[in-house]
Amino acid sequence: MIQSILISEAQIQAKLDEIAEQIRADYGDRPLLLLAVLKGSFLVVSDLCRRLGDNVTVDFVQVSSYGNGRKSSGNVQIRKDLDINIEGLDVLIVEDIVDSGQTLDHLLQILRTRNPNSLKVFALLSKPTARVLHVPLDYVGFEIPDAFVVGYGLDFAERYRNLRDIAVLSEDESSLAP
Ligand code: IMP
Repeated sequence: MIQSILISEAQIQAKLDEIAEQIRADYGDRPLLLLAVLKGSFLVVSDLCRRLGDNVTVDFVQVSSYGNGRKSSGNVQIRKDLDINIEGLDVLIVEDIVDSGQTLDHLLQILRTRNPNSLKVFALLSKPTARVLHVPLDYVGFEIPDAFVVGYGLDFAERYRNLRDIAVLSEDESSLAP
């Protein structure tokens, strides 16, 4: 069950206006590939790409480390690879949330071997106190405490992705995790 709303829909949308403006200032008219990390980033990338110009393309990658539980297993695997070759491209990874940093660290290692022209990261949410591995974040939406959150693409056992706000899940429900 939802315990409380942490970040409202209006706050999310206002933050995306700001971030899109920074991205436009940084990349100008250069072609930019937004690489969304499935599944949690599907809403944020759709809202972000519509704020950017027609030099933007979108691709998806799926990396799994969680199963249905709440904590990263550290066993990170690519489930769905990109469709395109990123050699020579400017790539901006779009992450829903960076928690321990293990998922992103692994993804960055793989993508660097493919020789993009540049590789940066936008994380809508970051939990700095939960970090196990240092990962560079170029754009951050919100820094949040180390609580389990759902909504706006983020799930608990595949539920709640469709919430418009980002909310904290009650301990009762999350303790039922496998
Ligand atoms: P990390 O490898 O620990 O940084 O975990 C990153 C991934 O774990 C994210 O892309 C999410 O899929 C998932 N995750 C981490 N924290 C949360 C949360 O609070 N709610 C929902 N998913 C989360």
